[in-house]
Order: sequence, then C-alpha cells, then structure tokens
Amino acid sequence: MKNENEKAWSGRFKEEIDLVFEKMNRSLSYDIRLYKEDILLNRVYSEELTRLGIISKKELELIKNGLKELESDIAQKGLSIFSDKIEDIHMGIETLLFEKIGDAAKKMHAGKSRNDQIATDVRLYLIKEVKVILDLIKKFLTILLKISENNIDAVMPGYTHLRQAQPVLFSHYIMSFFFSIERDYERLNDSLKRISIMPLGNAALAGSSYKLERDYLQKNLGFDSITQNSMDGVLSRDFILEFLSNISILSITLSRYAEDFILFSSEHFGFIELSDKVSTGSSIMPNKKNPDSLELTRGKTGRIIGNFVSLFTMLKALPSTYNKDLQEDKERLFDSIDTIKDILKVNIILLENLKINKEKMKNAIDPSSFATELADYLANKNVPFREAHKITGKIVLNCIENQIYLTSMTENMLIKYDLNFKGIGDNWADINQFLNKRNLTGGTGIKSVKDQIKKARKILNDFKKT
Ligand code: ARG
Repeated sequence: MKNENEKAWSGRFKEEIDLVFEKMNRSLSYDIRLYKEDILLNRVYSEELTRLGIISKKELELIKNGLKELESDIAQKGLSIFSDKIEDIHMGIETLLFEKIGDAAKKMHAGKSRNDQIATDVRLYLIKEVKVILDLIKKFLTILLKISENNIDAVMPGYTHLRQAQPVLFSHYIMSFFFSIERDYERLNDSLKRISIMPLGNAALAGSSYKLERDYLQKNLGFDSITQNSMDGVLSRDFILEFLSNISILSITLSRYAEDFILFSSEHFGFIELSDKVSTGSSIMPNKKNPDSLELTRGKTGRIIGNFVSLFTMLKALPSTYNKDLQEDKERLFDSIDTIKDILKVNIILLENLKINKEKMKNAIDPSSFATELADYLANKNVPFREAHKITGKIVLNCIENQIYLTSMTENMLIKYDLNFKGIGDNWADINQFLNKRNLTGGTGIKSVKDQIKKARKILNDFKKT
C-alpha cells in the first residue's frame, strides 16, 4: 500500500516537507465538504478515460464501486478516516481509493490537474447550495406575503430619518421587503448560468492533452456550459465573488429588516412581538426578553461582507492562472453559505411566529404626520406648494407650542391661517382618506397594496417554475 507520507509530487523532491508549512498548506479540514462533488467528478472522468482506453472496463468497475464505498465511509466518519498527512480532498480520495482497490486508483488522474478539478468541484457545490438558498428565500418571501395579506388594513407610522413622517399601511411596509428581497432572488438565480460553467478538461492551465469529450463530461456532471479558455477556466473565481456580493446585498436588506424589527418589538414601540422561540433572556435580569435572533441577523452582515472583501482583496493582481492563493477562497465561500442559510432559516421561524399589535401601531401615529395633507389641500387650491408648505409649517408649530393635536384642527381654525382651507372639513385627517389618495402604483393605499400582493404572488409562482 502507498506510504501516506509520500506526496503526489515526491519524485522531484529530496527533502521532506516542513511540518509547520505542511499544516498551513493543508485544506482538507474544509475542502472535505466537496467530497461528493469530487467523487462524482472522478467517476464521470474515469468513464471518459475508459472510453479513451486509459482505464480498462474492469478497472472502471473497481473505481466506481470503490468510490461508492468511499462516499458512504466519508459520510459516516468524516475527517477521521484521512491521515493528517493528506493535503486536500483530491489527494484524500485518491489515497483512500488506492487503499481500497490498488493501482487502478492511480490511473484516474491522467489528463486532469487539481487545478481544473478544484474549480469544477467548487462550481458543482455552489450550484447545489445556491438552489438551497433560493429555496429558503422563496419561503421567506412567501411568509412576508402572507403577513401582508393577513394584516392588509393595519396602519402604522412611517419613518424617514427615524422620525415620524407619514402614516403607511403595515402591509405596505412588509411588502417593501418583499420587492427588495425578490431582486436578491433574481440576482442569485441569474448568477447560476455563470456558476454552471465546467472547467474540467482545462487541466493545469494549457488544456488536457487527452482527447476528452468535454460535452460528455459536461452533461454527466450537470453543467450548463464549458469554459472556452483553459487559462481562464483554472483561474477565474468571479463566480464566487459574484455570489459573495449577491449574498452581501441580501444581508444588507436583512440587516435593515432586523434593525427595524428590533426597534418595533421594543417596549417603546411594541408594534410586534417576537416568539420565545427566537428570543433569549438575561442571566441576571429576569425581566429581559432579548431579540438576539435579529441582532445576530444584523451582526452577521459584518462577516458576510468581510468574506466578500477578503476574497476581493486576495484576488487583486494575482498573476495569471492557478496560484495557491486561490485555496483561500473556500473558507470565505463556505462561511457565507452557512451564515446566510442560518439567517434565513431563523427568520422564517421568526416570521411564522410573529405577533402583530395593530392597536399599538395605529395609536403610535403622530397627528402631525398628517401635515402634508394640509399643504397638499392648499396646493390643489392653486397656492404654490412652497407657500402652502410654509403656512402648514406655521400651523404645526402653533399646535406644538399650544399643545394641541394637529388633527384636531377644525376647518374654522384652519381658515384663520389661510382662507383657501375653506371646504376642507373637520375630518381632513381621516386615515382612510389619506390612504385612498395613495392608490397609484407603488403607493400605500389599500388598493395599491392589494395590487402589489397580486404581482408578488405572480412573481412567486414564476419562481416556482424555475
Ligand atoms: N487545495 C487546492 C485549492 O484549494 C487544490 C488545487 C491545488 N493545486 C495545486 N496545483 N497545488 O486550491
């Protein structure tokens, strides 16, 4: 049996590798994640080598059975079945297969390189994970839609600068996340075609010298297309950058949602209540119920963006084709995949168990947030809007100084400020009127939000087809 200490490249070397460097060079602890992809690749590739007569049919049978056994060994025992001399998943699988089936295992690597192999494995893995993430986003969006529908007419204060601005429908607010995250879905979905490009056959950098049918490999590995240039194929990691960027954009949206929900579930707002399932207590203050799930959603944005920046920095000015720096892409990638999946899963639970306090939201609306209605009324009476704004500002100021609600200003009181208020009526600050005026596409009127929900449902259904 092969000496585990022997490196694949040992022929050219006289000295043993230094142990400190060997540890730094090892990627097995994290690229073990790619074992299924690496096994699939080796199986399909060995079939192709059999067609070319490099591997006999008998050897192919041995390889296939051996790989199958190995797959379940690794699934059961993980890292523990590899010696700590093994550098990466490719060498690990080859070495263990050799221990199982002997020399046939040594034939598998003809005409390929770990350079095209790792690029192919990572792409295969990412295709699978992007689909899982897309599915989670779909679930998240479905729940947002349901919350909007179930609370279609609940009103709440709307904020700019985190100061009360104008009332909005709660359903409108929730749909703002739907449309933002729907674009994140589309971006991610669109990126699949750039991930699903197969580098296998590019070998080290110059392309394989074996007459491989790359179309056969592509089809059997499940790729959409193949790389058109071997130097590009072994080097390019733009598909990972694009993924990390897409996930960063999504996590920014989710951090905004988290921040809002932390505020809105606090004692001061009380608009929503989080389930105990996604909250924690304090080890000292028995009264506390903390929104840790949302805080972590917000906080983990830091590591997601960090992963993106880290890979960006690592890739800058790398010389052409494969360099070992590229090994550093995987931990960043895997961490962002795990993190975004956790965030989405936790927030699906959070939304499924969310309590909405319609009364509190409604009562929190500051009467002066109807001020724009007054200015608009005057503007419709031919008063220039800037003028109308000034007059209304004065009314608001007087209300603050005399401690009266803006909404309790009657027509008679308003006329004292400007005669054009004639006909406004005492009910000018009616919330339903306010909403009805905003039924244009994208507005916060009930009809508009119903239209948004309809469109959103269609978008979700179209997603389901893809
Ligand atoms: N572990 C390596 C990586 O992750 C695999 C490719 C190694 N290629 C090489 N020529 N040393 O990038």
